[in-house]
Amino acid sequence: MPRDMIDLTTSEEWRTLTALARSAPTMRAAFAADPDRARRFSCSAAGLFLDFSKNRITDEVLHALIALAARADLEGARAAIFAGAPINATEGRAVLHPALRDRTGAAWPVRGENVAPLIAAELAKMKGLCDAIGSGAATGYSGRPFETFVNIGIGGSDLGPQLAVEALRPCWIDGRRAAFVSNIDGQHLADALAGLDPATTLFIVASKTFTTEETMTNAASARAWLQERSARDADLARHFVAISANPRAARDFGVDAARVFRLWDWVGGRFSLWSAVGLAVALQTGFETFSRLLDGAHAMDEHFRNAPLAANAPALLALVGVWNRNFLGVGAHAVLPYDQHLARLPAYLQQAEMESNGKSRRRDGAPVTAKTAPVVFGEPGTNGQHAFFQLLHQGTDVVSADFIAAARSSIRLGDHHERLLANFLAQTEALMRGRTEEEARAAGGEARLAPHRACPGDRPTTSILMEELSPEALGALLALYEHKIFCQGVLWGINSFDQWGVELGKTLAATILGEIAPHGGARPPATRHDSSTNQLIDWINARREPKGEKR
Ligand code: F6P
Repeated sequence: MPRDMIDLTTSEEWRTLTALARSAPTMRAAFAADPDRARRFSCSAAGLFLDFSKNRITDEVLHALIALAARADLEGARAAIFAGAPINATEGRAVLHPALRDRTGAAWPVRGENVAPLIAAELAKMKGLCDAIGSGAATGYSGRPFETFVNIGIGGSDLGPQLAVEALRPCWIDGRRAAFVSNIDGQHLADALAGLDPATTLFIVASKTFTTEETMTNAASARAWLQERSARDADLARHFVAISANPRAARDFGVDAARVFRLWDWVGGRFSLWSAVGLAVALQTGFETFSRLLDGAHAMDEHFRNAPLAANAPALLALVGVWNRNFLGVGAHAVLPYDQHLARLPAYLQQAEMESNGKSRRRDGAPVTAKTAPVVFGEPGTNGQHAFFQLLHQGTDVVSADFIAAARSSIRLGDHHERLLANFLAQTEALMRGRTEEEARAAGGEARLAPHRACPGDRPTTSILMEELSPEALGALLALYEHKIFCQGVLWGINSFDQWGVELGKTLAATILGEIAPHGGARPPATRHDSSTNQLIDWINARREPKGEKR
């Protein structure tokens, strides 16, 4: 076992927390007993305000959680990540996405090399492309300016830029439209390309590896689409840019070397928004907006790096999550942005949290001895209220939730925003307080319905507020979660930066591909799998003969 590995579940602090969980007061009682509770369990960081007082914590719990973090040497791990240590040990890589948003000129070492100049050069190249497209110096084959930017990527090469483009809608440059194609389902690409003018379309192929099946298949089909629609072969290069840590593969695909943006092995795919993977954001909202996004994230990095754990927003968010997950048995966590422009945040955090911390092996390869990442899901408020909130209020499982909102909206439309905020606040209050049967009876209505109207309460929520959804606030919010994920990985003793679990399915798909009958064709009965998989292949293959073409 490496010297840094300790089993936290056998520690004194873990035992203390286990005991505290048995005696934790209800939140309703805790609020009634302490008028200062909200202030004491809140903190501010990089323009964000976090109120985690509506969790079942007490001073003793928080104290014990911070002691647990000390036992796990969270501060040492934090120093190691910022020092460029190869903390992604299974892949032998540093984890330095914070370097991507540091524009102070500070040095960032990776294997003895300062990578800050490489980052600055790539940013300058991004700005150069944005400027050239803005001025009309870079156009498509017809000489007309680009209007549509189709980002072809998946996972971290899709979710981050897609979320940011949507979130920063008020900053969009008129006449431009970014589109995102990720799924290998051909309908995704076909739908995105329908009605597009090839002469004014720029494809951004984003893939760290440049081997991902979905992205390579979509990129090849996009290239064919362009070739079929009058672009001469020599002009194709004008319509493609690439972002990759595998620049040779990008060039082999046909992207002009000058249009290949670099990514590095020390940037994890799900942490790559801050690199040239954010090009779609820069093109849709302007390079200045993208820079502000980086600044917001950098401000959170500085906070995380320097603040003591007791006042450290990402660390506290992580510790409260560990309390809920490991000591109160919460297995699912909802991400609930009360902001339509953050509609993709749950999907983004699903990858960030579940791909990072959905692990059952510790860093030393031994099985974990405590639960790791919960299931993450969510929807924007208030939509979720009319869908799954019933379970949050009265279900048999306790689900924790983050509620996220901005005090001001980008638009003034009647009292929509006041109503949105009222719902945000009411939900967290209701989840905390609940309603007893007596209260339900006292509220009137049929007495026999009182048990149905009662809500247990004591459902943990954390409220995260920002003044408005500015580029800086978005950057800070995403960096907050990135560091939270890192802290939880340290506490759980796992490597948050690899993703071996996704390999097996990819390998099997490559084998099965040869067993799927081509359109209109046939294949012999499947025999190489379990009876279910064989049966499903045969069922599909028997129906691959078209009954009547429908396209
Ligand atoms: O399969 C998972 C994954 O490797 C993610 O971690 C990553 O974000 C995604 O695939 C896309 O990878 P790439 O950028 O190399 O195409």
